Amino acid sequence: MGLRSSQREFHRVVAIDGPAASGKSSVARELAGRLGFIYVNSGAIYRAITWYLLEKDINAEDTDRIAQALESAAITCCIQASESRILVDNVDPAAHLRDDRVNESVSRISRLPLVRQIVGQKLHERARSDDLVVEGRDIGSVVFPQTPYKFYVDASPEVRLRRRAAQGERDEIVLRDHADFSRSVSPLVIAEDAYVIDTSHLAIEAVVNKIMARLKQMGLQIWRCRD
Ligand code: CDP
Repeated sequence: MGLRSSQREFHRVVAIDGPAASGKSSVARELAGRLGFIYVNSGAIYRAITWYLLEKDINAEDTDRIAQALESAAITCCIQASESRILVDNVDPAAHLRDDRVNESVSRISRLPLVRQIVGQKLHERARSDDLVVEGRDIGSVVFPQTPYKFYVDASPEVRLRRRAAQGERDEIVLRDHADFSRSVSPLVIAEDAYVIDTSHLAIEAVVNKIMARLKQMGLQIWRCRD
């Protein structure tokens, strides 16, 4: 398939990209369960790094301190119940990943090339040992451009705002989207070979069914499929 040599050893990767509150997480988790693949939320890694820097009182503009802090931090991705989890210096920040202050800062931290490089490396390491469903912003376009299995899930801004409000979160998704679409490094784009699904009027199950149908049509071999 003409893979670059450094990427030849990757297992299969299904990329699910899209803007905030488009339904990526629910779709990706359910899809991974049906395929028997590991579910990886790349946003959670950006959020964990953001949480760690906030805990250390380092602000998003202080790139020298960020580089220093991340150089000495142990960032570990492990698997629990078929999902990837992230530990920073042996602490699991899962309970804090959706705190207001993390929502406010994550897009400013995740635009830094060093941070993107660290997360990209973690995702590549994971793909060397497992089949993955990975959700994010640049998974099909930058992190795993060689995978043929690329999906872009979207929904109207009104629907996305409503979904996030229903989760009880204070999250300025319009600002975050703007930052994610307009940054110079790995902006949120629709990969040209991605299959686009508008989830505005679709239930999670219907979206997952569409993706499963497309994967089967593309010839993805599924050994442990749960329909
Ligand atoms: O759940 P939601 O879609 O709101 O966000 P998320 O997937 O948890 O991602 C949080 C933030 O991390 C995004 O707004 C992006 O700034 C950043 N991110 C990124 O830059 N690249 C990714 N592959 C995933 C997330």
